[in-house]
Amino acid sequence: MELVVVGLPGSGKTAVGRRVASRHGAAFVDLDEEIERAAGRRIPEVFEAEGEAGFRRRERDAIEALGSPDAGPRLTRVIAPGGGAIVDSRNRWRLFRGRRTAWLDVRTEVLAQRLRRSPNVRPLIVGRDPMGAIRDLSVSRHRFYAAATRVAGIAEMGSVIDAVDRTLVGAAASGTVLLRAETRIGRIVIGEDVLAAEVATALQDLAARRAILVSEPGAWAAVGEGLASSLAAGGLPVEHVLLSQGEAAKRLSVIEDAADALSRLRVERREPIVVVGGGALGDAAGFLAATYLRGIPFIQVPTTLVAQIDASIGGKTAVDLPAGKNLVGAFHQPAAIVIDIAVLGSLDVRQRRAALGEAAKMAALGDEKLFATLEADGAAIAAGDTAATASGALAEVVERAAWAKVEVVLADEHETAGRIGLNLGHTLGHAIEAAAGFGGLLHGEAVAYGLRAAARIGEARGVTPAARARRIERLLDALELGMSPTGLDRNEVLGFMATDKKHAGRALRWVLPTADGYAIDAEVPDELVAEVAAGVLAGRS
Ligand SMILES: NC(=O)c1ccc[n+]([C@@H]2O[C@H](COP(=O)([O-])OP(=O)(O)OC[C@H]3O[C@@H](n4cnc5c(N)ncnc54)[C@H](O)[C@@H]3O)[C@@H](O)[C@H]2O)c1
Repeated sequence: MELVVVGLPGSGKTAVGRRVASRHGAAFVDLDEEIERAAGRRIPEVFEAEGEAGFRRRERDAIEALGSPDAGPRLTRVIAPGGGAIVDSRNRWRLFRGRRTAWLDVRTEVLAQRLRRSPNVRPLIVGRDPMGAIRDLSVSRHRFYAAATRVAGIAEMGSVIDAVDRTLVGAAASGTVLLRAETRIGRIVIGEDVLAAEVATALQDLAARRAILVSEPGAWAAVGEGLASSLAAGGLPVEHVLLSQGEAAKRLSVIEDAADALSRLRVERREPIVVVGGGALGDAAGFLAATYLRGIPFIQVPTTLVAQIDASIGGKTAVDLPAGKNLVGAFHQPAAIVIDIAVLGSLDVRQRRAALGEAAKMAALGDEKLFATLEADGAAIAAGDTAATASGALAEVVERAAWAKVEVVLADEHETAGRIGLNLGHTLGHAIEAAAGFGGLLHGEAVAYGLRAAARIGEARGVTPAARARRIERLLDALELGMSPTGLDRNEVLGFMATDKKHAGRALRWVLPTADGYAIDAEVPDELVAEVAAGVLAGRS
């Protein structure tokens, strides 16, 4: 067994880790010391000579050099990484998987006091007001530390060590939590093999006396049934209601039947349902939760990549009408969203690839890290290559894309400003999707064509630097998205765009990529749109 001790600078990781290790006759690894040894200089000097990027490279190497964890029953190694090591998703993946974790959660006032007295120079804090610096770090890193088992509120060293010791007792959790955040739009947990445990915890927090799973045949076979057995094995009575599979779930008649089923189960006002499925099921069952008894709590268990990085986040629920998609709906935030990347294993390649169209959009909006990961590993993720899961690349893409959506939603929960950046690639994308007949192209596939169009229009308008436009298109090439001729008629596609414009009652506001973000352009000439659309629809890369 191995233990990783994490926490903010000054939280006592080294002192506590060393004492716990010695109590068990285990080895102790202070990662900062390892880095200093490898670099042949002190950490402030590494920062000075190589910058933070150089330091972080060394930190990644040191974590990689730890190798695989010892899975035996005795504690053999305690690892204390630097406070910032776990910000990087890959580092967390490598450190937390197969190891026990403890987060020393110490109050910021106490930390600031300790840091003022400390002889160690902390490069990210030095020269700043320690209290403010610590508070900033605490906010920006909380979700990463909170993935570990919390040890809080203890000042005295001996008691802290006892408390950390207690985290070693009992069976190891089967999976790995990578991120945990309590937000205004619900608890968000991301991990691997964490589904049953996290759903059980969320149900317990909602004082549920049973688990009512709402799913559809595809997601039920892939994920729901297994989840139901695990929850039942944990002693919870389990019920389930199945809606239709795919977009067919998003119909009012389906909601009526499902609401009937809930009333037969005598589901009450405060009783949560657990929504297990992709984006279509989530939209429909979310709408059911929003309207049954004027709203009951629900837990989202997104089972497709689209749902994990997009649809399950934001509280938008809806069903379709013959006149169009998502015409009847409500904002209803889930109590918790449990994102388990292990459920993606059964997803078909086309679904996976299409979802990466949305991830590419998030990257193009200015997430450089996500961009680089998609460039390096996107093709392998799309192909369902297990190496891309084992390396932590899939987890990184899910985490970054999902969190980017969380931040956009937190900034504008009810879409007063239209969450406009998220529309990158959607102006033409929606029109293509509509022209293909919904279901002809997957949403992410249509967005990829739209993203290419936005890059080309952006370049022509002098908004997108040529190199950035090339880079976006190269990424889409590597993901094999938006490449083949669509066979769609340009005028028909432009016709759908004109309808959108009429609905908006004003000129289309194009979201165009810049060097590191996006800009809005409401004056893109129709001729340019027509010319670019022709090229994109013909599948020329
Ligand atoms: N609410 C939002 O903010 C939002 C955002 C984006 C998309 N959406 C909606 O999401 C829908 C598209 O999402 P989707 O593609 O996830 O829909 P989906 O629910 O139809 O899932 C796609 C298919 O995958 C199957 N499936 C689900 N989980 C599986 C698993 N783990 N293994 C194998 N197969 C599995 C399903 O049975 C289904 O056939 C659209 O209706 C779109 O409007 C909503």
